[in-house]
Amino acid sequence: MDGIRGTDAGQAGLNMDNHWMPFTSNRDFKQDPKLFARAEGIHFYDPQGRAIIDGSSGLFTTPAGHGRREIAEAVYKQLMELDYTPSFTRSHAKSFELAERIAKLTPPGMNRIFFVNSGSEAVDTAMKIALAYHRAKGEGQRTLFVSRERAYHGVNFGGVALSGMVRNRQTFGFGLPAAVHMRHTWLPENKFVKGQAETGAELAEDLARMVALYGAETIAACVVEPIAGSTGVLVPPKGYLERLRQICDQHGILLVFDEVICGFGRTGRAYAAQSFGVVPDIMTMAKAITNGAQPMGAVAVKQEIHDTIVNSAAEEAVEFFHGYTWSAHPAACAASLATLDIYENEKLFERAQQMSAYFLDTLFSLSDLPVVTDIRGYGMLGGVDFAPMGSPGKRGNLIQKQLYDAGVHVKATGDTIIVAPPFVIQGEEIDRMAEIVRSVLAKH
Ligand SMILES: Cc1ncc(COP(=O)(O)O)c(C=O)c1O
Repeated sequence: MDGIRGTDAGQAGLNMDNHWMPFTSNRDFKQDPKLFARAEGIHFYDPQGRAIIDGSSGLFTTPAGHGRREIAEAVYKQLMELDYTPSFTRSHAKSFELAERIAKLTPPGMNRIFFVNSGSEAVDTAMKIALAYHRAKGEGQRTLFVSRERAYHGVNFGGVALSGMVRNRQTFGFGLPAAVHMRHTWLPENKFVKGQAETGAELAEDLARMVALYGAETIAACVVEPIAGSTGVLVPPKGYLERLRQICDQHGILLVFDEVICGFGRTGRAYAAQSFGVVPDIMTMAKAITNGAQPMGAVAVKQEIHDTIVNSAAEEAVEFFHGYTWSAHPAACAASLATLDIYENEKLFERAQQMSAYFLDTLFSLSDLPVVTDIRGYGMLGGVDFAPMGSPGKRGNLIQKQLYDAGVHVKATGDTIIVAPPFVIQGEEIDRMAEIVRSVLAKH
C-alpha cells in the first residue's frame, strides 16, 4: 500500500510508508493513525496534546507509570559511563547486581538468572535450558513440549510452537519444535467469576493424558502462563497449577511458568508463582523488568538445573551454547536496577495487591452491558469479552479504536480487551477509565 499517509500523520508531515508495524493492520492504522507523542504517569498524550489513560500499562510493561525520571537518569548515566560491554566472555558489575536482585524476588532456589532482550527470547531460552538439562542428565530423548490452547509465548520459533493462539501458528507451521497442547482453562460455567474459579482443576489431567499418550520419557517440559494473558486473561482454576506441579514431579517433567505478563507485581506478589503458591523449575520474565524503558528479559532457573548443565561441560568449555549480543546490556541493567528500586521504595507490588479489589470490582461493574459476554480478572489484570460482530475480532478492533478516540488505551485481542493499568493509578482514575469504557461499550 504505497503512499498511505493518515490524517494526523499527514498533518505532521510524517511518511508512514516504510515502517512495517508488528501485530497491526498496517492498512487500517495508516488510514487513521493512533499515535502517542508523549507519556507521563498513567497517561499517554497524542500529537495534539490530548491525554489518554494508559489502561494496559503500555503492553503490560509500565506498572510504575510513564516518564520515571530515576530510570531515565540511570540509563543516561550508564550510557555515558559504559555504553556497551560484549556479553560473551566479558561483563560488567550491574549484570551481577541485577541478577542478585532478581534472585531475591524469585521463589527460593530459583537463583540463576540468564538475561535476554524480550519475552520471546526468554521463552526460547527457557526451552533450550530444558533441553540442555535433560541432555546433561542423559535423557536427551526428552524433546517434546506440552503447552496449552490459547497460550501466547511470544513469536520466536520456540514460542510459536508452544503458542496456542491459532493465528500466530498458522503461517509458520513447518519446522517448529515439537509441542502438543492441553486444553485451555476457560469454562462457560466460570463466566464472570472474579479471581480463581472453584471448578476446572481437572483440566490439568490433560498433562497426565499427554504422558500416557507420548510417554513421560519423551517430554522435556510443560510450559504455561500462570494466567494466560494475551488470549484475554484466563485465570487458573483453584488447584490447577498445583496439579500440573504434581504430574511434572511424578514424571521428571520440568514445569516452566511464562511470567512475562504476570511478573513484577501484576498478581499482587513479585511473581504469580508466589501468588498461586506453586514453584516452577524455570520462569521467564520481561516487560515490567525495566518498567518498559529498555528492552530486556530474563530466565530464572533452579540452581540444580543450572548446576547440572554447567557441571556436565568440560572445564573451561562454554557450558551453554546460547546468548545474545545484547544479553545484560548495561543500559537495560541500569534501567532495571532503577526500576526495582522504585518497586521496592514505593511498595508497588503491595499497592497492586491493595488496589486489586477496587480495580476488579470496577471492571466487573461493566457486566450489565449487553455487549459484554464475560469478565475475568486477578490482581491488576482483567479481561472483558464482547459478543462478536460479523467476523471474529472485528468488534474488538473497533472498540480499541473507539476507546483511543474516547481517551483510553487498552490492548485488544480478538473480541476481548485486556485491562491492566499501572499500579500507581488512583481510585478516581480507575473510575474515570471505567466511565469511558462504559460510554463506548454502551453504544454497541
Ligand atoms: C506470556 C508471554 N510470553 C512471551 C511474550 C513475548 O514477549 P515479547 O513481545 O517481549 O517478545 C509475551 C508478550 O506479550 C507474553 O505475554
